[in-house]
Amino acid sequence: MNEANMRLLQPLEGEPWEIEPYCQRGGYDVWARCVKGMSLDDIVAELTRAGLRGRGGAGFPTGLKWDKVRNHRVTERYFVCNAGEHEPGTFKDRYLITHFPHQLIEGMLIAALTVQAKASYIYLNAEFEEARASFQKALQQARDKGYLGKNILETGLDLDIEIFDGHGSYVAGEETAMLESMQGRPAMPKQKPPFYPTEFGLHNKPTLVNNVETLSHVPHILRNGVEWFTQVGTERCPGTMLFSLSGAVNRPGVYELPLGTPLRHLIEDCGGGVVDGRAIKAVFPGGPSFSMVGPDQLDLAMDFDTLKKAGTGLGSAGVIVVDDATCMVAKTLALSTFFKEESCGQCPPCRIGTDKLEELVNKIESGEGTTQDLDMMMQICGFVKGTGFCTLVTGASVLVQNSLRLFRDEFEAHIVQHRCPLASSVSHVESKQETQKCRG
Ligand SMILES: Cc1cc2nc3c(=O)[nH]c(=O)nc-3n(C[C@H](O)[C@H](O)[C@H](O)COP(=O)(O)O)c2cc1C
Repeated sequence: MNEANMRLLQPLEGEPWEIEPYCQRGGYDVWARCVKGMSLDDIVAELTRAGLRGRGGAGFPTGLKWDKVRNHRVTERYFVCNAGEHEPGTFKDRYLITHFPHQLIEGMLIAALTVQAKASYIYLNAEFEEARASFQKALQQARDKGYLGKNILETGLDLDIEIFDGHGSYVAGEETAMLESMQGRPAMPKQKPPFYPTEFGLHNKPTLVNNVETLSHVPHILRNGVEWFTQVGTERCPGTMLFSLSGAVNRPGVYELPLGTPLRHLIEDCGGGVVDGRAIKAVFPGGPSFSMVGPDQLDLAMDFDTLKKAGTGLGSAGVIVVDDATCMVAKTLALSTFFKEESCGQCPPCRIGTDKLEELVNKIESGEGTTQDLDMMMQICGFVKGTGFCTLVTGASVLVQNSLRLFRDEFEAHIVQHRCPLASSVSHVESKQETQKCRG
């Protein structure tokens, strides 16, 4: 890892929640300028010029989103930082909150003030106890220094951040579902259009929702400038991104790299290659909802546009490496089980589709499947893909379609041999645990 590229993961002295080491690096300077009258329109313009794109999965332009909420005709507005993070293979947000809480707090304060939020929250999974403890202590230190709370830096400004306990479901990380659950309703996504949070968010008012990593970039961009931020990355995807690397690699963990870095560099140089010197069978470059790539595609650049063009996606950069000793049917089953369990059940194609897909993959894995089952799986995928108020069922069908397209011979071997040919290698339970573990 090139130290010059470390922006969000730059080591600081002392405990992560201690405010002084962060302040010594210029931390909270931008916030102090904002409070003392820096033009908030300039902030939006700088983020737009920097080309910062959301790190929560969709890569949406951050400046554009802030502008929409800031200039909304409705003046009662809200701000929420999304720290849901329940997708298998993604663990960079809790790592950031635990180890670098102050840059996030500064980014959140700037966001809240820019959109003139009436109230500001962080939606944090209750199960991330370490992250929560670190964040709470950091918040208190910032409060003690006068950076948040009442009469901030004696300017008369009041602004605070409240922690909202998330209940740890995958769908609750989808922004409209998250806002529903924050209002005491079931965490179910809403139909878009028209229910975009920038229009109809908390209490049906315009709401800015941003990911932890997106917000952590904000103070650095405003402090160091657009030219500094765009020195690395690609033209359309500037800056660095945090990659959560897991699966069959020697050094799983969170790595900060310029967007556009080849997948091979992450796996071989950062991750130390595949365990036990084995070969790569497939890689999920953007978590289980996006298509896998093969070992012949390791030179693909990891950015939103290149991976989309290659028929897959970057998502929130949860990179999962699968080695050649893994049964792809078992792997597909583990992830299909995840999708089935995490479907909120609201949309019938998702509720029924994820259930049926898991049942069929399970049938194949246990040696009881037929070739008709393979046809039926493909048919179901065709029916349910693109339906639903969120992308869960699309992810579930892309997984099965893609696995069948790349590894049909393995599915057929299960049918012919009436058992899993690799039954002793990876149980699907182990595989599921592996992808959900935080390896920060
Ligand atoms: C099923 C599902 C789960 C999601 N989970 C998360 C999550 O845990 N954290 C997150 O920031 N975004 C998540 N998203 C994306 C959010 O809906 C939203 O796009 C994001 O929080 C916006 O922030 P950004 O613009 O800074 O990326 C999820 C989306 C879907 C469809």
